[in-house]
Amino acid sequence: MSNVEAAGSTEEIRARVDKLLAGMTLAEKAGQLTQYFYFGGNEGADEWANEQSRQVEVALGRGGASSLLFVRDPGEVNRLQRLTIEGNRHGIPALFGFDVIHGFRTIFPVPIAMAASWDPAAVEAAQGVAAREARAVGIHWTFAPMVDIARDPRWGRIVEGAGEDPFLGAAMAGAQVRGFQGDHLGAPERVVAGPKHFAGYGAALGGRDYDEVNLSASEFWNVYLPPFRAAVEAGAGNVMTAYMDLNGVPATGNRWLLTEVLRGALGFDGFLVSDANAVRSLATHGFAADLTDAAARAVQVGLDLEMAIEDPAYAHLEEAVEAGAISVEAVDACVRRVLEVKLRLGVFDQPYVDEEHARSVLADPSHREVARLAAQRSAVLLRNEGGLLPLEPARLRSVAVLGHLAASRRDILGPWSFEFDLEETVSILEGIRARLGSGAQVTHAPGVRPPERLFSSIFDSFPGNVPVVADGFDDDAELVRAVELARSSDVAVVVLGEWQNLVGEQASRSSLDLPGRQPELLRAIVATGTPVVLLVMNGRPLDMRWAAEHVPAILDIWYPGTQGGTAVADLLFGDVAPGGKLPFSWPRSVGQVPVIYSHTTSHDPDKQAERYWDEPSTPLYPFGFGLSYTSFAYSDLVLDRHELPAGETLQVSVEVRNTGERPGDEVAQLYVHQRYGSSSRPVRELKGFKRVHLGAGESQTLRFTLGPAELRYWSSAARDYVLEASTFDVWVGGDSTASLGASFSTTAAGVAGTATAG
Ligand code: NOJ
Repeated sequence: MSNVEAAGSTEEIRARVDKLLAGMTLAEKAGQLTQYFYFGGNEGADEWANEQSRQVEVALGRGGASSLLFVRDPGEVNRLQRLTIEGNRHGIPALFGFDVIHGFRTIFPVPIAMAASWDPAAVEAAQGVAAREARAVGIHWTFAPMVDIARDPRWGRIVEGAGEDPFLGAAMAGAQVRGFQGDHLGAPERVVAGPKHFAGYGAALGGRDYDEVNLSASEFWNVYLPPFRAAVEAGAGNVMTAYMDLNGVPATGNRWLLTEVLRGALGFDGFLVSDANAVRSLATHGFAADLTDAAARAVQVGLDLEMAIEDPAYAHLEEAVEAGAISVEAVDACVRRVLEVKLRLGVFDQPYVDEEHARSVLADPSHREVARLAAQRSAVLLRNEGGLLPLEPARLRSVAVLGHLAASRRDILGPWSFEFDLEETVSILEGIRARLGSGAQVTHAPGVRPPERLFSSIFDSFPGNVPVVADGFDDDAELVRAVELARSSDVAVVVLGEWQNLVGEQASRSSLDLPGRQPELLRAIVATGTPVVLLVMNGRPLDMRWAAEHVPAILDIWYPGTQGGTAVADLLFGDVAPGGKLPFSWPRSVGQVPVIYSHTTSHDPDKQAERYWDEPSTPLYPFGFGLSYTSFAYSDLVLDRHELPAGETLQVSVEVRNTGERPGDEVAQLYVHQRYGSSSRPVRELKGFKRVHLGAGESQTLRFTLGPAELRYWSSAARDYVLEASTFDVWVGGDSTASLGASFSTTAAGVAGTATAG
């Protein structure tokens, strides 16, 4: 019996909600709108965390809380659930939420890496496994996917999303929601998906996390909203609001954003949660007068659950109602949505988890295979001079695997990993050793120490999150030792990048340099003359200008997860070929930021590459770029018609051929450009892609459809979506500089949809 059957029909659910609501006091209702962090009992929990958790248990024991986050142990879930159910007169169970961002026990590549796979099916499969593991331990709901567009890599949270592009972002958003949630809310072994942070959070001023966001209406509708629309269309049951001011109004209290756009234009009918403490922050921002005002204004805009660390603003809801600042009906509307999701998920009927079953799900070896595949498919080959890669094991007697990150099992997992098992995690060094066996001598030296950050983060208390430097680490001597190993080896595999605690929430940067003494180490290793393969472990683009000219092979492996070392060995030795593509334009230096491929045409387009006098204004690597161990050629671009009446579709077909000697994957990308209209449109916009596997010499005809969904846009002039009479260019190729093109015209104009003017 599925949970939906267990939960009953919509009418039955509504009737149960009505009945519960009728018997609830205002204080009980406020409790149903409150979600607490619970860190207690975890390894690394300090005195503050344990005391806070004790207070949460008191709240649970008197019906003062609806949901908990960060509880990850099935025994703890059961204990706290019992406390919750017995703590309220109505026996309402708690909903357990958690940041299942890229895996639970099995850690998958970080989201930006999974976007680089351009493979929605692999991403859906990965998040399906993540959901299965999380649900087994009693987690009902994930605060994911993060679908914020990120165009400024100084912003540390770029690692959590799908990069700069709304079309790729929408594809990844939909795939992740389907993976987490399955085909309906309440599907067995799945969790509720909560796309976040609504909306525009990725455009933080200066890339500084939490800073204000000022977005034009055109950017808002055309760039930042599409992934949220896709997530809602895929059925996301929850949405999380964002922390920051959007055009001067905090997102969490922004009526236009949450009611007119989210519930109106996007048609979202699930429940809303605030980001942590974001209802309280309405007062901090200087928007609400005090916490009572903050609570009233959040409920007014339909903010159902307040995520709180301590002292929730919703504890003031009774006061707000008594003062006439908010009606009981508005409170009820929020409680209704919370109770409804608990019923839909079947939590009332099955509040507890089977701990034995949880253990067996977490141990399922097939999950590790999904992680290995996802890691293989995420890697992006940036350079391969002279075909240095793949390496041939039979020809290697000695391999030096260098860099501190090469041996780190914690860093390979990336940020937002908590429940991992380090025992089953494979570092790069271990992956290479296992692949080569006794056939070659594999040596290692860290070369450099991890740099210290200027600040501490909320995640520092989690075990292993802050890298430890061995006592007596002698920087100069270690650097020399690494260089000597390179000198005496057939090949040097150098793993450099950012330690995982240097990227993510609260981990923005003012520079994109390789941190610490890594650039010095790299130059010294290259100077030995030994062939060098650089593996970049990162969640954002780093300054690779020197490497792009001097290091023969560069493979971006991101934070590839539990099976990262095995997958990287598969790639290095050619068992599979890298086929990922960049989900962002890779800047040459931080001074170019933001640099995007889909800019509009300037008044001087011929000199687009010369916008700075001190360096080209083109990126180091374009959006969509990535090499393979083979090569591909595109030909025979055919449109089935050249005049397109509004509302109709045309078919684009193209031939892709593997022109090399090895099998490989290619991601064919289709871009369009509208030549004129009521607004000027980007020089190119991605509107289709397909990842295909082709054997040596093999070719395939790929087909894409272009219609209203791809050709409409939100026009600042019309203040609505439009589908205009114009001429369109279309290109298909292996990255955003594709040159094989054609054109067509649309013959009638029309308003393509309705939006709420912003
Ligand atoms: C704050 C982050 O902004 C959000 O993404 C996350 O889900 C919550 N904390 C809960 O951990």
